[in-house]
Amino acid sequence: MFNPQDPDFVQDPYPVYRTLRERSPVYFSEALNGWLFTRHADVQKVLNHPKIIRPPVGDILFSRLPEDVRAELRVFERRLGSMLPILNPPEHTRLRSAVAQAFDRDVSEALRSRIERRVDELLDKLEEAGRGELLEDYGYQIPTWVIMELCGLPQEDLSLVKELVTGMTPILGQALPSEDPVGVTRTAAAAMDRFSAYVEKHVAEVRKTPRDDLLTRLADAPLSPDDLTLTVLVLLIAGTETTTHYITNAIHTLLQHPDQLERLYDEPGLLETAADELLRFEGPVPFATPQVVRDPIEIGGQQLEPGALVYPVIGAANRDPERFTNPEGLDLARPLGSVLSFGGGIHFCIGRHLARMEAQIAIGGIVRRFPKLRHDDAEPVPVWRADPVLRGLAALPVITC
Ligand code: HEM
Repeated sequence: MFNPQDPDFVQDPYPVYRTLRERSPVYFSEALNGWLFTRHADVQKVLNHPKIIRPPVGDILFSRLPEDVRAELRVFERRLGSMLPILNPPEHTRLRSAVAQAFDRDVSEALRSRIERRVDELLDKLEEAGRGELLEDYGYQIPTWVIMELCGLPQEDLSLVKELVTGMTPILGQALPSEDPVGVTRTAAAAMDRFSAYVEKHVAEVRKTPRDDLLTRLADAPLSPDDLTLTVLVLLIAGTETTTHYITNAIHTLLQHPDQLERLYDEPGLLETAADELLRFEGPVPFATPQVVRDPIEIGGQQLEPGALVYPVIGAANRDPERFTNPEGLDLARPLGSVLSFGGGIHFCIGRHLARMEAQIAIGGIVRRFPKLRHDDAEPVPVWRADPVLRGLAALPVITC
């Protein structure tokens, strides 16, 4: 019933999610060797349950590596296991509170007008060309630019960030199937090493000459040097591709619902609910990080024993009719209340305010500037990438006028 590699599933996972929710809301997947939860109420319980924790990275990913490769990558394994999304309390609590203090709402808000200016520049270019590819030329440009600005890192170094993010992202899926675990892990380890050296150089600079940026604030926080470096890495990895696909998926969804695109143009006051609804409808993170049961529990009528892996399927929960009226429909005025797109519990997304702000500016800018935006029929029809961890298009070619 569930095969994350199936090309039909990749292009449209929602029929499978619906079947799972209706027939087997707690489903044991052989492919993932764990339990999939697809109902909204169950996903919320899993994300908030104190007896469900993050498994040590070694248990899943590294156990599939040959012993000699694992030994060679021991330092990488240890450092990966010290990253915020993978830690458990009490280490998680300590690190999260230090990072949350430095990366608060004000830090993001201070960037708002500069993000608006940057988005305007990108829109000018698209307008001049009359067409463009929105994944590369727009969706990708905004979050990577933002995170570099936030940390005071030179924009010329963007290619290094890209190398880090593309190298590390497949690792974060942990237990999701990978054809080449050795190659994937070695690439991620090399990307982490290279980027750590880069961050350490910049941290040394802000220690000498403090600036008004996030890197300086983090350098002042009670973090060990390695925690500091790993935190910057996590923010870059978690904050770029996710938001890139949030923005691009949202615009693609609007193009598929021209009535809603027109509605947003006519009623710009809907932007906030619209951006949240677009995230519910076609969010970039369909699966939360795999977790493991610590003590026996029962969720959704299923008894779960210690050591069992669990996968909260956010993409399925976001279309649960028990929680949302007409969930397969897009309604930009829908008052959402709690959505699971940013996870929940102690690992609730720390960058959600920044991501929502970026998406609102990016989506609002496109709709205001190009109310007649359409897919570019001279280019291939947009398809979804075969990536079970991050849902995003391979490209989004458009005509802007
Ligand atoms: C649309 C954009 C985004 C989405 C959909 C998203 C989604 C999520 C989700 C689902 C989680 C929880 C994962 C889990 O339970 O394992 C999470 C955690 C996290 N997010 Fe985001 N995120 C986005 C943007 C950002 C941004 C912009 C940043 C920072 C610049 C960020 C930083 C983080 C961090 C550091 C965590 C880990 C928190 C912890 O473990 O305590 N995210 N995000």
